[in-house]
This record gives sequence, structure tokens and C-alpha cells, in this order.
Amino acid sequence: MQIIGNNLIRLQDVDSTNNYAANLLNGSEPPEGTVILAYNQFGGKGQRGAVWTAEPGANLTLSIIIYPKKIEPQHQFDISKMAAVALADTIDELTGLTSQIKWPNDILVNGKKVAGILIENSMSGRYLSTSIIGTGLNVNQRNFEGLPRASSLLIEGGRELDLEKVLEKFLSLLDYYYMVLIRGNLAKIESIYQEKLFRKGVRSNFILENVEVNGVIKGVQKNGRLEVEFPAGHVLDFDLKEIELLY
Ligand code: BTN
Repeated sequence: MQIIGNNLIRLQDVDSTNNYAANLLNGSEPPEGTVILAYNQFGGKGQRGAVWTAEPGANLTLSIIIYPKKIEPQHQFDISKMAAVALADTIDELTGLTSQIKWPNDILVNGKKVAGILIENSMSGRYLSTSIIGTGLNVNQRNFEGLPRASSLLIEGGRELDLEKVLEKFLSLLDYYYMVLIRGNLAKIESIYQEKLFRKGVRSNFILENVEVNGVIKGVQKNGRLEVEFPAGHVLDFDLKEIELLY
């Protein structure tokens, strides 16, 4: 039986599906796998306090609630990897395109961002207690005014997709990878994540402490830190606030 999507809440207008999920968790315990899907989000949240905008009715904007019982805070990046891999797989299977994952969890097609993930976790005791997996996938949007790096599956793949089919595929793949994760087969998720990692092994420019430097992405550590090798040969690791990949 599929857990993810067994309880699907459809909203017409909401500030943010992540906020809606957080409010729901405040006053109740919705079934694990509850999905909140919005036709229109007027206060969509992106990473690092950014705003997430999406044309109403053209894209998928949704949040999924899970209770990842055995995941310790230092392993919370596993959830991010799982969501990124499920989303990337959804795109590849439905469109025949080849998506890539830009660390930590942006999904790119042809170097353009078609999807983003915002995960909000809470803890109780040793383990995470709840995780809200917020996902924005640009499906049928045609214009991204002022966002030269953003795109959609329609623009990249050349055809419109049925949003319901995309939703169904994503939820079933997320369910699959969630089972893989809770059964402890993280290696499978890990290998897809590293294989799809954007610019891995390629010389790239980065902004580090306000200075432009070049280096090569070697991989991502289990805790989610990015490993970069510098021309002198040393490898350092960074979190999201410390380094920015220029592309
Ligand atoms: C990012 O790449 O910056 C993350 C974007 C996450 C957007 C999704 S849309 C559904 C969910 N609700 C939100 O307010 N944000 C996430």
C-alpha cells in the first residue's frame, strides 16, 4: 500500500503549502504521507528566505508530511537526497529528458532550474519527528520573466504534460524511495544522487568568502556538505551558506 499521497488535500489558494502543513501538524497528527497540493500559492517560500513563484494551475506546488522515525538530525540530508532523486526520476521517466541535481537539491534540465525543494524538519529527542517536504515543479509554465535560469518541463521537453499524471508519478516514486530509505538501503539513493550531481568532476567557478575561486566538485558528504578540490590539490567541504556555485 502506498503511504505517500494516501491523504491528499487540494487547496485553491494558500500562502504556502509548507506553512499549511506546519499549521496542520501544530494542532493534529495527519496521517503519514499527507500531501497538500495548491492550485495557487501567493506566499511560496524558497530556500534561504527566497520567494517561490509559480503560475497558478500550470505547475505542481505541494508539500508532503512524513514521520521519519529512525532518522537522527545529523542524517537529515537523507530526506533531501531522497526527495531530489524521486523528483529527478519523475522528470526523466515522464519526459525522456535527463535531469541533474544541483547541490543540495535543485533539479536542473539543460542547465536550467525546473524544480526546487524546501524541507522543514522538526525534532523530538534523538530523532526527527516530522518532515515537511515542499516541492515546486515547473511543468507547463511558458514564461519566466526576470528569471533567466528558470524553466519548465514544457519549455525543455516541448510538450505539455497532464499535471495529474505528473503528480501521480512523483508520489509513487517518492513512496518507493521512502521505503528504500526506511528499509536502510540508502546506498541506492546515494548512488543515484552522486551520479546525477551537476558539475561533478568538472572544473567550475565558485564564490567563497566573496572571492571567485575555481575548483572541482568531488561529491557530497553524508551530512550534506559539498566537497570541492582546489587547484593546489586540497579538498575542503562546505555547507550551503559558505559557497555558491557559479553556472
Ligand atoms: C527552492 O528551490 O528555493 C525551494 C523551492 C520550494 C518551493 C515549494 S512549492 C511548495 C512548497 N511550499 C512552499 O512555500 N515552498 C515549497
